[in-house]
Amino acid sequence: MHIKGKISYSSPSNIALVKYWGKEPGDQIPMNPSLSMTLRECKSFTTVEYEVKTDAEPSIEVVFEGKRSIDIEAKLQRWFTKISYFFSWLNYATLKVESHNNFPHSAGIASSASGMSTMAMCLYGIDKHIKKHNENDINLLSNISRLGSGSASRSVLGPYALWGRFDGFENSTNDYAVRYPYVHETFLDLHDTIIVVDKEPKKISSRDGHSLMEGNPYRQARIFQANKNLETLLYALKEGNWEKFQHVTESEALSLHALMMSSEGGMLLLKGGTVDWIHYIRNKREETGLPMAFTMDAGANIHLLYPAGVHEQVMGILEESPVPSIDFIQDSTGKGPEKMIDEYEEI
Ligand code: DP6
Repeated sequence: MHIKGKISYSSPSNIALVKYWGKEPGDQIPMNPSLSMTLRECKSFTTVEYEVKTDAEPSIEVVFEGKRSIDIEAKLQRWFTKISYFFSWLNYATLKVESHNNFPHSAGIASSASGMSTMAMCLYGIDKHIKKHNENDINLLSNISRLGSGSASRSVLGPYALWGRFDGFENSTNDYAVRYPYVHETFLDLHDTIIVVDKEPKKISSRDGHSLMEGNPYRQARIFQANKNLETLLYALKEGNWEKFQHVTESEALSLHALMMSSEGGMLLLKGGTVDWIHYIRNKREETGLPMAFTMDAGANIHLLYPAGVHEQVMGILEESPVPSIDFIQDSTGKGPEKMIDEYEEI
């Protein structure tokens, strides 16, 4: 077999409303189920030029944001050893990867989710040509993405994706994310304004953060809380209940950071500005009654979620705030990856 081509996908990041934080023994098994909203604007773009020839030596070269990245090459090679079970041709593939994001690095937006899911989309596209099939096995795509980065499993679907076994939703599994379909129209077009208060790279990776949950004294309580919060959130999404949505979203953001703080070594990612913004948002919400709910990832920046219809009012409130910010990045509910290029020839 000898095939050559070029394939390119974009894939969005996602913001978790119920957080994945902590793993079980095994390969990328989450400690608790999580649920996220897929984003529309903040994306990774990945192009893979490939040549797959039986018995050739495998090789990979990665250029990320204009620069060769040996670190990403090593990360992808580790991932390939796990997924060559599905894509055995990776053992004799020559891959040239170019990838970039349209959002600033370290802006509190999960770039591993968008990056690994674009890569999974590209590999699956190549697999279709090699094995001459035209399936679109979204479970497999999500599974492969998960093996690269847990949160990436949720980026291949939109608008809301649930990953991890949860008793309250029959199709849920630890292997891949599934679409949560029962969503009231209130939540089908949410805006997410990312308040950037800090651009410094994180001092600890998510991967290391997850492993700190192994010895966290609140581990069992967290598993219970995440399941309870997920149950409430699924109800809120279905019924269009903003109050419950807001309650869970904020409880999860604060709990995520509380878990980090209570882990060995006391991981503190919040900045003074993060806390000032939270107080400001809560005060303004009480004053105006506007529906807005904040959440955070493993970083200092804030995602402010609100229905599209109140965008102008919310932005007015953010712009008149005395609390400083570096930037506001505008995003909203999205659908998932998109194909951009797919050309190949059999030799
Ligand atoms: C705080 O998916 O980046 O964003 O599986 O080790 O790659 P790995 O971790 P990652 O963790 C994301 C953690 C989080 C919460 C979430 O997205 O659910």
